[in-house]
Amino acid sequence: MSAEAHRFAVFGHPIAHSLSPEIHQAFAEQLGIRLSYETIDAAPADFDAAVRGFFRDGGLGANVTLPHKNAAFALATARTDAATRAGAANTLTPLVGGGIQAHNTDGSGFVRDITERHGFDLRGHDALLLGAGGAAKAVAWALMDAGVKTLTIVNRTPERADEIADAIGEPARCHTRYWDGLEGECFDLVVNATSIGVTGGDFDLPMSIVQDHSTAYDLCYGAAAAGFKGWAVAAGVRPDWFRDGLGMLVEQAADAFERWHGQRPDTDPVYAQLRQRF
Ligand code: ATR
Repeated sequence: MSAEAHRFAVFGHPIAHSLSPEIHQAFAEQLGIRLSYETIDAAPADFDAAVRGFFRDGGLGANVTLPHKNAAFALATARTDAATRAGAANTLTPLVGGGIQAHNTDGSGFVRDITERHGFDLRGHDALLLGAGGAAKAVAWALMDAGVKTLTIVNRTPERADEIADAIGEPARCHTRYWDGLEGECFDLVVNATSIGVTGGDFDLPMSIVQDHSTAYDLCYGAAAAGFKGWAVAAGVRPDWFRDGLGMLVEQAADAFERWHGQRPDTDPVYAQLRQRF
């Protein structure tokens, strides 16, 4: 069995600092699987050809990150429900007989991290989702599936939040508010799915939307999550009830890994290892 016959990759732009190779290699070592997992930097104009070339040359699976998740969804010939709901893909798998299947593990990775690692039972809780991009869309569906009592979505561009709520189509449970229309509301969980922590900007939100029983979760990790953590703690969230997206990153990788290799890795040691650095 040559390493080349078990070739995997993550596509992004930029991609050099991706943790995916390290995570997939750690899972593979744990389970005694031999594989190669590389980073492939493709500019948006080259993404389609790069992915097709990768699979033509024997690639067995590809993860996809920013800015290619929508393009990955578009180029696929088959799409799982999770990908269709998000309108974006982070996992591509070549199909026997040709074609490429698009899947999305962001929502499942988020729910597994918050419920199993952090012990937050989503059922019966009121959740607020900030943002309405691809990641937010995947997380919105996952929160609904996991049984939140209500899901409120706010976004700088309100029409994008409305689109997600309309697609979910459960107005009694899932609705939108204007970003500046949250005064007087309070949530058990606030999830940041905006790119404010990456691109810069303020979390201009009333502090009354959280109390000391509330959990705050940023889909980003490390320095990119610092701004939202600062806001949440200042607003009254206990520092150890703030979660960043490092666990989600590991869990979404595990879901992709299981899809490709048919075995589920133990994510805890990999998470613990990475946690020492972030
Ligand atoms: P992704 O697919 O990773 O979620 P995206 O589609 O670029 O990325 O979405 C980024 C999200 O961050 C959007 O919800 C965006 O709001 P808009 O839809 O109005 O663009 C949000 N966002 C980015 N910068 C922001 C800022 N300064 N204030 C508020 N929201 C911001």
